[in-house]
Amino acid sequence: MKLNEEQQALLDGSRGEVMAKIMKTLVMYGDAFGAERMVPVTGKYGHTVISFGLGVMDPVYDLYDEILSAGILPEQKFTADPKPLDPKVPSGLLDDLVFKKLMYNRQERYEAQLRKLGITKDEDYTCACYLDQVGNIPRKGEILSWAESSAVVYANSVLGARCNRNSGILELMGSIAGCVPEFGLLTDEGRKADWIVEVKCEKKPEAQLLGSAIGMKVMEDVPYIRGLDRWLGRELNDSAKAYLKDFGAATASNGAVGLYHVENLTPEAVEQGESLIREGAQVYVIDDAELERVYRNYPVIWKKPDAKPQLAFIGCPHLSLQQLTDWAGAVLKGLEKNGRKKVAVPTVFTAPVQVIREFEKSIYAWPLRHSGVVLSSICPLMYMNNPLCKSKAVLTSSNKLRTYTSAKYCTDAEILEIITGGAK
Ligand code: F3S
Repeated sequence: MKLNEEQQALLDGSRGEVMAKIMKTLVMYGDAFGAERMVPVTGKYGHTVISFGLGVMDPVYDLYDEILSAGILPEQKFTADPKPLDPKVPSGLLDDLVFKKLMYNRQERYEAQLRKLGITKDEDYTCACYLDQVGNIPRKGEILSWAESSAVVYANSVLGARCNRNSGILELMGSIAGCVPEFGLLTDEGRKADWIVEVKCEKKPEAQLLGSAIGMKVMEDVPYIRGLDRWLGRELNDSAKAYLKDFGAATASNGAVGLYHVENLTPEAVEQGESLIREGAQVYVIDDAELERVYRNYPVIWKKPDAKPQLAFIGCPHLSLQQLTDWAGAVLKGLEKNGRKKVAVPTVFTAPVQVIREFEKSIYAWPLRHSGVVLSSICPLMYMNNPLCKSKAVLTSSNKLRTYTSAKYCTDAEILEIITGGAK
């Protein structure tokens, strides 16, 4: 890899041993992927995927202490993924004991480190950092050093920024050194599509299902999606962006997609059209029957597959304000239809703190709270990532949560029926 003078000096120790090690790590990372040079991180803010203080990750926090003691702070401030704990989210005594004493017993230590390292604000813990209310919105063409897969795929695809699917820690190192190795999705060539996906559904495909089907088919490749503009329109408005947020998170977790193009809708597809498609690209046709096949093949790994649901999580990735408002309206209407005052299953809607604050001003806030729905900015995956949750019957409309935990996936309509007491 060719380094410029400044980068070489960092590697040679001009800013001390710790910075030299950080630079060396980034260079080795780039070498592993055939990068020929380092390029400056140009996005205004970073974003870190590590938002949790896990007892088994002490070496990471020790490393961050070493960085802090060396006095080398990231060049950019950053937002962080959602936290793993929120007392508002229903949990038993034993869960609390496991969460606080055994698992996330380094949470305070880690959050203090993030404050010193430069988290933008104490409330900026959300994977949907690119929502207007949070404000970490990269611009087209900016180079980022992020790792959260749902945020990376959104930034690349919907905003046209450039970011690889980095790992935690490495992403912070990129923010500290102010440069990242240039390969993959940072290059024009790496942003070309290897797949053409033809969406031929007769009804609007569920975002999380369509993303899952595409992710499982193309894995880490870049898909160019035709036919979705029929359902989403040709304008990147709030509802298209919310759809693409959920769709992208499913492509990134059910597969390893870091960038997709939607014909006539996402910025590079609008600008470059079919010239984005690589010669010899494979074709995947998706119709309603294909989505049904994908859905029916999800394993249900609840201990008792017909158990009564104990908890429902909606909002992974975190909900936008419009989504939260729509869900609130739908739940209240569903409860009224079913003659109920309270939800039939303890339900948690997850969204950024700033979105929840905005929602609290709406006419839905009071009745929703009284229906028993909990609003939280927790990460449901972190909540479920423990042995106790394996025996819990948890429902979700998130395909990411289904993939990483024992939660059972339901479509939005199904989960709405269940939580409002319309389905048994
Ligand atoms: Fe966000 Fe946690 Fe889901 S980071 S995408 S809420 S797994």
